[in-house]
This record gives sequence, C-alpha cells and structure tokens, in this order.
Amino acid sequence: MLDNLVKLREQFKQELEAVEIREELESIRIRFIGKKGLVTSELKNLKNLSGDMKKQAGKEVNILKNDIEQSIIAYQKIIADKEYLAEIEKSEKYDFTIPSRSNMGSLHPITIIQKEIEDIFKTMGFIVEDGLEVQTEYNNFEAVNIPSDHPAREMQDTYYLDNGQLLKTHTSAAQNAIMKKYGAPEPGKPLRVLFPGRCFRNENLDASHENTFFQLEGMMIGEDISISNLIYFMKVLLSEVFKTDVKVRLRPGFFPFVEPGFELDINCLICGGDGCSTCKHTGWLELLPCGMIHPNVLELGGINPDKYTGFAFGLGLTRLAMMKYEIKDIRLFNSGNLKQLKQFTI
Ligand code: DAH
Repeated sequence: MLDNLVKLREQFKQELEAVEIREELESIRIRFIGKKGLVTSELKNLKNLSGDMKKQAGKEVNILKNDIEQSIIAYQKIIADKEYLAEIEKSEKYDFTIPSRSNMGSLHPITIIQKEIEDIFKTMGFIVEDGLEVQTEYNNFEAVNIPSDHPAREMQDTYYLDNGQLLKTHTSAAQNAIMKKYGAPEPGKPLRVLFPGRCFRNENLDASHENTFFQLEGMMIGEDISISNLIYFMKVLLSEVFKTDVKVRLRPGFFPFVEPGFELDINCLICGGDGCSTCKHTGWLELLPCGMIHPNVLELGGINPDKYTGFAFGLGLTRLAMMKYEIKDIRLFNSGNLKQLKQFTI
C-alpha cells in the first residue's frame, strides 16, 4: 500500500503540472480526493490492514490527502490569476477611440451656449432661476409695465389658453415672481439672478423668425446699481462668449419695463467694425436690449424704488447662437434634424 501511495503522489504531481484551466483542476480533485477518488479508496482500504501497518499507512494516506488538498488550493489561485491577466489582455485590445455604434445624442446648440453663459454669471455671484413657460397675463404684461391697452402688446402676440393664461412672450415675465421670491436685497448683497427660458410669439416663419425661441434674461438689484454696472456685466458676458475683447455701445431703446432703456450693440466681429453685409455696413451689431428697471416694475415686485435701483437685460439666446455658430436659418433649431444639430457638440 505504501508503494501505491508513492505512485499516487507522483501521478498527481504530473497531472497537476499539465493543468491549464479551472475545469481540469476540478476533475483531478474529484479523481484523487473525491468520494470515489483514488486516495479516498486507499483510505477505505485501511480497514483491511492491521496493527502498525494500519497506523503507518493511515498516517501516510492522510498526509497525501492533505498535500493534495493544499496543492489544489494553491493551484486554484494560480489559475484565477491567469484568468484575470487574460481578461486584462483582452480589454487592452479594446480601442476606446472607436466611436460608439449607438446613437448617443448630443447637446442642443442653444443648451451649450446657455450653460456657457450660466457658468460665466455664476462666477460673478448670479443665481439661476427657471421661469414658467405658461404664465398669467399679469406676469407677462402688467407686472412689467405693459397694461392691456399698451401698443407694446401688439408686437408680442402669443398663444392663449382657454383659462386665460398664455405662453410667455419674453423671459421678462419672470421678473415679478423673482422679485417677490427674494424680496429687497440686504445692504451690500445685491440680488443677482439669471433666468433663461423658452418664449413664444405669433410669427410668420422664415429664416429669421420662429414662433418658439430662447432668451436669457438677467437682473441685478441693489442700493447703488447704476448703468456702469450694467455696461461692465454686459462687456464681460460678451467677451467671454465670443472669446475676444468686444467693443460695445449703448443707444437709447424703448422697452416699457426699463427707464432709461438701451439697445446694446457690439462691434461687428466679422469685419472688425469696418463694415460688411452682416452688420449692414454699420460696423455694429444689435444684440442686447437692456436698461435700468422701471420704478413701477420694482414697486409691483414689492421692492421700494426710492431705495433700490437695478438693471435688467434680455439676451436673444437663439440669435446669439446663430451668430456664434454662423447658423443662417433660425428654423434649424427646432427642426429636430440631428445630423445638423450634432455638429455643434463640443
Ligand atoms: N423682454 C424684451 C423682449 O423680449 C427684452 C428685454 C429688453 C429685456 C430690455 C430686458 C430689458 O430685461 O431690460 O423684447
């Protein structure tokens, strides 16, 4: 029997050395120390022996069985490591630069530019608010100094719901609610808010008119806010968006909710101000209506106009995106044409 054990040990050693995969190891385990395994049968055979012989053989069989178990455990670890390395090897062959086959979608150009402007303003202490798209007539018009008989309503015809509410014609519709939400600012802490949003107007569609478009409005209200603050913030905004130092000029402009109101122009970035077809040979592009918030509007928002002043601006986000990305037809934005819209993703 002892000879047999020596042979079994040798046989196990040879077979183990040839093992490559987990399954082979398992079958060796079963063949040697499984219920009906070679070593297990030797254990069973012990009962046929007697005396010292039985004692010695018993000891040897148990040592062999134990050695086999240990070797198998050690080999399991070796195989697991091998498998892991093989996995890594496989994944290294994967080329991460190959574009995905699935259609991943992309950010809309308006979203890209909106986020960019939000980031610029956030670094200057502005908070971003989300105005409702369905508004009351009061918020959209009366609260921004456009009473029902005001001619300004003519230019802002929109879609009315049966309940008398409407689809907002401009982001200014959120001014009143924002003023009421935040109230009068504490000394030295002017209220700074940005409120981008989708707006609607009854328009005849063409390359430069859409019934659905985006604006981005901002307000700063405090005890000493002046036109200088307005100009500073607008210059920072435009320089960051166009990644160059832009020249601006203010012209008087009429908007019922600001007094004085301005049209802020930038020097034409296409011709550098010399005059070209884009700027209609004036060297300037009209971009940003703005002004000092009308006292009536502050008052309706619950802010004392004798104590506080503020500026507001209403940036045509869709228009800005058209200029920045040189998009000639406004209808592209709502077209859902992924092939075209995807080009702007950075
Ligand atoms: N709400 C105006 C419009 O849609 C744009 C505007 C002009 C907003 C001047 C302002 C502003 O805040 O000060 O035509």
